[in-house]
Amino acid sequence: MNATTTGMPPVLQLRDIRKNFGGLTAIENFSLELYAGEIVALVGDNGAGKSTLVKIVTGVHAPTSGTIIIEGQAVAMSSATMARAHGIEVVYQDLALADQQTVYMNMFLGREPVNRFGLLDRRRMIDDTEKLVKDLDVRIPSAHATIRDLSGGQRQGVAIARATHWASKLILLDEPTAALGVAETAKVETIVLSLKQRNIGVLIISHSLDQVFRLSDRICVLRRGKQIGVRKTSETDKNEIVAMITGLQH
Ligand SMILES: Nc1ncnc2c1ncn2[C@@H]1O[C@H](COP(=O)(O)OP(=O)(O)O)[C@@H](O)[C@H]1O
Ligand SMILES: [Mg+2]
Repeated sequence: MNATTTGMPPVLQLRDIRKNFGGLTAIENFSLELYAGEIVALVGDNGAGKSTLVKIVTGVHAPTSGTIIIEGQAVAMSSATMARAHGIEVVYQDLALADQQTVYMNMFLGREPVNRFGLLDRRRMIDDTEKLVKDLDVRIPSAHATIRDLSGGQRQGVAIARATHWASKLILLDEPTAALGVAETAKVETIVLSLKQRNIGVLIISHSLDQVFRLSDRICVLRRGKQIGVRKTSETDKNEIVAMITGLQH
């Protein structure tokens, strides 16, 4: 049973979101509800506005107009810190890891635990990081490895581990497997499905319709900033979604 059937408010509600960048309208009239334990895929061509939408939810961009509602409460999501305080985590398309830092420091960036002397509790960060990467089966040399020495897949693993560690309500994934190989992609997909078990809402952006159909409960299509439609994954097919993305009949 998920939140759709329990009467809980959606974890995320976007109402009439618009975003202008100068004269360019990147998003208009966008509304969506996302429930706990639900995976919604956001699809659309390059420039459709997908990443902009993610950044609006995570407080990077303020919407020009419209409302963001978290568990029934309207929120002015004015910073990334605020989004995190609401239990929202994100894996950006352009990875936001600190290159010069170790894996364990990245895991806790901005949220480092301190011991009773007020010093960084490195032991705890390292232990927690090791447990987490083991649980998620992310293969990294060690928690002490520096991010710049890791492969693309390993970095993505760290970014995803960090998001799943801190998220309590909602995770946004912006093309999380675009740069990954087959095995790494399968691993990420397993992790995404496990978030559903933890009753976390997931918004995933992907160009792979195969992946979208494997993972999502619903699919939301954006074209040039306009919301073309939302479909239940079980009630649509790739032909319909491609037609919605491109605006061409199939
Ligand atoms: N910070 C920004 N300043 C100005 N224009 C932007 C900015 N970010 C995105 N855009 C524009 O908004 C539109 C949507 O971009 P984006 O959200 O990145 O699309 P997508 O992720 O779907 O490929 C594009 O036309 C892009 O050039
Ligand atoms: Mg994008």
